[in-house]
Amino acid sequence: MKQAIIEQAKSILNSNFKKEQGFTIPCEGLYPFQWNWDSGFIAIGFAHFDIEKAKQEVITLLKGQWGNGFIPHILFHNDSDTYFPGPEFHQSKLHHLASQQVNTTGMTQPPVLGFALKELYEIVDDKQDILHFISSQIDKVFENHKYFYNNRDPKNEGLVYIYHNWESGTDNSPIWDDIWETFTPPQYDFERRDTTHVDSSQRPTNREYDYYLYLIELAKQHHYNDKKIAETSPFLVQDPLFNAMLIKSNEALIDLYTIIGDNTSKIDTLSKWQKKSKTNFNSKLFNKELGAYVHYDLRNEKQIPFVSSSSFAALYANIPNPEQAKTLVNTMMTKFGNDDQYLCASFDPTHDRFNPRKYWRGPVWINLNWMLYYGLKHYNFNDIAKRLKEDTVALVTKYGFYEYFDSRKLERPDEKGGYGGNNFSWSAALIIDILTKEK
Ligand code: DGY
Repeated sequence: MKQAIIEQAKSILNSNFKKEQGFTIPCEGLYPFQWNWDSGFIAIGFAHFDIEKAKQEVITLLKGQWGNGFIPHILFHNDSDTYFPGPEFHQSKLHHLASQQVNTTGMTQPPVLGFALKELYEIVDDKQDILHFISSQIDKVFENHKYFYNNRDPKNEGLVYIYHNWESGTDNSPIWDDIWETFTPPQYDFERRDTTHVDSSQRPTNREYDYYLYLIELAKQHHYNDKKIAETSPFLVQDPLFNAMLIKSNEALIDLYTIIGDNTSKIDTLSKWQKKSKTNFNSKLFNKELGAYVHYDLRNEKQIPFVSSSSFAALYANIPNPEQAKTLVNTMMTKFGNDDQYLCASFDPTHDRFNPRKYWRGPVWINLNWMLYYGLKHYNFNDIAKRLKEDTVALVTKYGFYEYFDSRKLERPDEKGGYGGNNFSWSAALIIDILTKEK
């Protein structure tokens, strides 16, 4: 059974791999290009059975890196008319340091590459070969972190901001609803493509897309200049998932530079960032009343007090002390852990904004579960980690390798519980990882 799932997952990754351009699409139709954080997770999956493809994934992603270290959220290596908004909308070359090799977006996504490289190192047997590869790429990832700390941290707190919900990865989370209340975008005339692939009840609304497009238009007016975006964007958020991933990647870069040797000054710099980031993450993003980390609205200077799966990502990055970790896991189990729910819904199932079918407003996502699984194990919550893993494998076994899953344990066996794209690469990649590393 287990082997059959792994084989199916491998064949999904292989068929989503685009040999000519050297990258893997998240899935056919809905996401026909290279996505930043998808690529990091995909590389981890490939590392278990085809390390050359894993390396290629990373190399191709870094081809899109800008002259200032920025790594974009989508790389449009190929033409496709199945996705909106495409390269002609984003116009990345408005920025004077944008990649000249490939059209991209002008926004980024959670920084996965640091910890993905470390995973590659750990998974692969031929340490010499993988270290040689890592040594050839790691400085680019360091430059990316430097970009974040120099350009996305206006208050010098070690907490970087995102200026668009698509940068968070949790695209239409209810977290953003209050921010949408603070401004009114025009109504754009555009043709959605996502809802030709996926039932619209599982995707954001047209009105939500107006907000998404408007934020891009504003950034374009400033030629994607970070300083001007920080001064003007109505969406400016310190996100606990994004920052936890940066912190986890800092830690990975420190470990890898230590293994490589001769990189003391980079290790010093990373350690300074790391200390500041962790301290302020704990003091600024922790909400005592909720017992969880929350988002901080930097534009309107206030916490956004909702619990989502992003609230727990800090476990993966070794951020909370043991006491805080206990509080956090208690919050997780009280709100998300009922027996009628699969772990872990993307948004608080006890809240009236929860919707178990709609994109990031409730469903379970495999990449968040993967992070939480290793985070829980790290803090020795072994029983909960075990349940989380069993739930993750159960969802994929029951419904297939979907993009996201209904968090409710549905009664009727014919009820469809897998949503969004099918044959989804990171769902496949991370199931391979979790099942292969299984003890
Ligand atoms: C989409 O188009 O929904 C993507 O998630 C944006 O990154």
